[in-house]
Amino acid sequence: MVTDVKELIETRTEPRRSEAPTPKVLVKSYGCQMNVYDATRMADLLGREGYAETQGEDDADLVILNTCHIREKAAEKIYSELGKLAIAKRALNAQGREMKIVVAGCVAQAEGEEVLKRQRAVDLVVGPQSYHRLPELLRQAKDGARIADTDFAVEDKFRALPAPSRAQIRARGVSAFVTVQEGCDKFCSFCVVPYTRGAESSRPVAEIIAETERLVDAGVCEITLIGQNVNAYRGPDAQGRETTLVQLLDRLARIEGLTRLRYTTSHPVDMAQALIDAHGAIPKLMPYVHLPVQSGSDRILKAMNRKHGVDAYFSIVENLRKARPDVALSSDFIVGFPGETDADFEATMALVRSVGFASSFSFKFSARPGTPAADRDDQIEEHVKSERLAALQALLEEQRQAFNAATVGREISVLFEKPGRHEGQIAGKSPYMQAVHAEGSIEHIGREASVKIVAAGSNSLSARLMSEEAKA
Ligand code: SAH
Ligand code: SF4
Ligand code: F3S
Repeated sequence: MVTDVKELIETRTEPRRSEAPTPKVLVKSYGCQMNVYDATRMADLLGREGYAETQGEDDADLVILNTCHIREKAAEKIYSELGKLAIAKRALNAQGREMKIVVAGCVAQAEGEEVLKRQRAVDLVVGPQSYHRLPELLRQAKDGARIADTDFAVEDKFRALPAPSRAQIRARGVSAFVTVQEGCDKFCSFCVVPYTRGAESSRPVAEIIAETERLVDAGVCEITLIGQNVNAYRGPDAQGRETTLVQLLDRLARIEGLTRLRYTTSHPVDMAQALIDAHGAIPKLMPYVHLPVQSGSDRILKAMNRKHGVDAYFSIVENLRKARPDVALSSDFIVGFPGETDADFEATMALVRSVGFASSFSFKFSARPGTPAADRDDQIEEHVKSERLAALQALLEEQRQAFNAATVGREISVLFEKPGRHEGQIAGKSPYMQAVHAEGSIEHIGREASVKIVAAGSNSLSARLMSEEAKA
């Protein structure tokens, strides 16, 4: 538990000492939670090398773009960002100052040396499996050498990374990610992840426990286990035996001071009954499951190589609700996959109506180089994709609002994470991942508190602390 809230707030808002000669690093992350996690590990690693973190480009000596390659737009955004950075770098060089630019993450992995060719201002390209070598690579790049390191390293990246200090953990708040599994062997026909992140691999149980205990010891009370296919986790225990995600969750739930556990992202095919049952059996496991379905049409699911049909998805949802009746579901959807007809799209809308999602992400299909779906000759016209996406998003938004409205009047537990937008306000998350704000002292930050939801705004729920309610 956080024992010293003041320390927590101060570490987060510590003023920058402009007179100090400390080099500054800015790490900008794009894409999924895995990238967010990797960005924190890079910042921690560079912290050990004497870098202080900064939030702005103006005073950064080193800028790292931790990139995403999942859709064309995401990848292109990086090049426009790099264009702006190149201008800033030239302006600094003119003043006799330096700025190193690093491209990390999935664009780095997918494009490697191409990035160096396409943008001259980039000094270093480093893939998701080799960023633990950043200090050494930066030393090599010191004298103007331009390097691309996108090897899938033989050494264990996680073991090579230094553990974060208490201050580093505290500066990031009370909710943290822990990567337990990386990579993907599923090869959905639209997706670049198996190529950018490599084959599925799971971290050993002991390593995950040690990392979690360290976080909890520094005040973290919510842990989200992350993996591209987190429920395919099969890490070895101390005896080298395969451990399932349920066994891992069970073990982590025993850590005192840890009050909330989550995991993401799951694939329906790996949604074992034991994991479903765990939602009824492990009280610390939050009633929220992100379970991407992509499409509601069996024909399209087959073409996507998702390896399951609509009925299998429905039965997972039904069993989850049996195990934990208040479980909230979220999903990812792709509209306009090659060959998707109006009827296929209608099947997606029907699936959404029938399941009812608390929140979701939806995207237009983006043809990615090297994936089988990109080569199909039955691509869907852009305006059709746009129309379908608008219709789907309107329905998903309606469901999100309805889900939020249904919590009004309920008493729930909120994990308060930070001060709110207004003086005297605190903000946090419900068990169902909803943003919640309440009037209350900062003493509540870093803890769970019971609240009554009094109103649902478009992006956040308004609540009253039960302790205040009792006084009223
Ligand atoms: N491993 C997760 C998802 C990883 S990518 C899973 O299997 O569900 C996150 C989401 O991006 C996917 O769920 C999918 O909805 C979307 N996505 C992936 N590739 C895409 C593409 N080529 N075009 C549009 N959306 C895509
Ligand atoms: Fe991509 Fe499919 Fe793997 Fe998810 S399961 S990361 S969508 S290939
Ligand atoms: Fe993007 Fe790579 Fe994550 S492509 S979604 S950052 S695994």
